[in-house]
Amino acid sequence: MNIYMAEERVSIYRGLKNVYVAESKICLIDHERGKIYYYGYDLDELAQKSSYEEVLYLLLHGRLPTRREFQEFLDRIRGSMRLDPEVLEVMKRVPKDIDMMEALRTVVSYMGNLRSRGPEYTREDVVDYTIDLVAKMPSIIGGLYRMWRGEEPLEPREDLSLAANLLYLITGREYDERDVRGLDMSLILYAEHGMNASTFAAVVVASTGSDYYSSIVAGIGALRGPLHGYANTGALEQFLEIGDPSNVERWFKENIESRKRRLIGFGHRLYRIHDPRAKHYRRWLEENRERFDEETRRVYETAMKLYEVAMNSFLTEKGIYPNCDYWSALLYYVLKLPKEVYTPIFAMSRIAGWSSHIAEYREDNILIRPKAYYIGERDKKYVPLDER
Ligand code: CMC
Repeated sequence: MNIYMAEERVSIYRGLKNVYVAESKICLIDHERGKIYYYGYDLDELAQKSSYEEVLYLLLHGRLPTRREFQEFLDRIRGSMRLDPEVLEVMKRVPKDIDMMEALRTVVSYMGNLRSRGPEYTREDVVDYTIDLVAKMPSIIGGLYRMWRGEEPLEPREDLSLAANLLYLITGREYDERDVRGLDMSLILYAEHGMNASTFAAVVVASTGSDYYSSIVAGIGALRGPLHGYANTGALEQFLEIGDPSNVERWFKENIESRKRRLIGFGHRLYRIHDPRAKHYRRWLEENRERFDEETRRVYETAMKLYEVAMNSFLTEKGIYPNCDYWSALLYYVLKLPKEVYTPIFAMSRIAGWSSHIAEYREDNILIRPKAYYIGERDKKYVPLDER
C-alpha cells in the first residue's frame, strides 16, 4: 500500500511482503521454478541423499564436511544428547495441559540460563550452542511427551541418529529403516527456508545484540502460530475432524467454500505453485502405502480426497496449493507420532536455519527497526482524571 502525503511519499509494506531485509548466502528459493537450494546445494538432492546431521553441518559451516569432520561432528552430537538434571526438573514443572511449543519455549529459555555466555558470542559459539540444543531436542520432546502421560523419560541412544532417537524417545519403539528415513527427510526439508517469520523473529532479536538463546526463543514463539509452523498440527486436526473420505465434499463446502475457515496446510506467502518440498513427502507416502494399517489408511485417504477436492476448487485460481505442513502432518501421522510433537519436531529441525541466519546476520549487523505510519489523532488536550 502506498500513501501519498503532501510532504513525503510513504510506502507501507503490510506483512513485509516482497521486502528484502538482508543479503544472504544461505538459502535460494526460486519460487517460480519451484526449487530450493541450501548454500547452493539442490534441496531435492539433499532430501534424497543426505542426512539431517549433514545438513545441519552445512547450514552451520556453509559447506559440506569431509568424512573426518563429519565423524567429529557426529561425536559432538552424541556427546551432547543427555539432558542436565536441572533441565529435567524444569520439564517436570511445566504444566501438563499447555501446548508443547509453549513448554519448549520455557525449557529452551532455561537451557540458555545454563549455557549462555551473554550477548557477546562468535560464530564458533553459535556452532557450540546449536549442537548442544539440537542434540538434546529429541530428549526434550520425547521427555515432555512421556512425562505428560505419567511415563518415565527414556535415555537417548548414541547408536541412533537424531531422527531415530526422536522416534525412539517419543514412542519407546525402534522403527523400521524406511520410517527413520522418512522422518530424517522431513528434518532436512524443514531445516531452512529463507527469511520466514520465525527466522526473521530470531534475526530481529539478534540484531539488537541480544544473546543466542533469546533469538531461539523468539523463533519458537513465532513458529507456534497457526499461520506458520503450527499448521502441521492444524492440518492433522483437520483430517481427524473430517474423519472419513466420504465426508470431505460436505466439509469443504461448509467450511472452506463458504469462506468460514482457511484450509490449513494450504497457501504460502512465496509460492503460487506447488511447494517444492511436497513431492518428497508424496513419494514417501506413495512408496509406503502398502504398509498402512486400516486406521492410517482412512486418514491418508481423507487427506488425499481433501487434496483432490481443494485442487478442483477456487483455491487454485488464487494460486493456493498445499504447503509442506499438509504433507508432513500426514507423514507424522503415518509414523504414529502423537500430534503434540508435530510442531516441536519442526522447531528442532529449523533451529539449524535460525542459527545459520543469526550467525550470518551478526557478521554485518544493523539494528532492525522499521516504522509504523501514524494515522491516529493529534494534539488532544489532557483532561485531569477527576474532570473526565
Ligand atoms: N485457505 C483459504 N483461502 C486462503 C488460504 C487458505 N489456506 N490461504 C490464502 N487464502 C486466500 C485468502 O483468503 C486471500 O483471499 P482474498 O484475495 O479473496 O482475500 C488470498 O488467498 C491471499 O491470501 P493472503 O492471506 O493474502 O496470503 P498470504 O501470503 O498473506 O498468506 C498464509 C499465506 C500461509 C498465511 C495463508 O495461505 C494461510 O493462512 N494458510 C493456512 C495456514 C498454513 O497452512 N500455514 C502454513 C504456511 S507455509 C509453511 C510454514 O510456514 O510453516
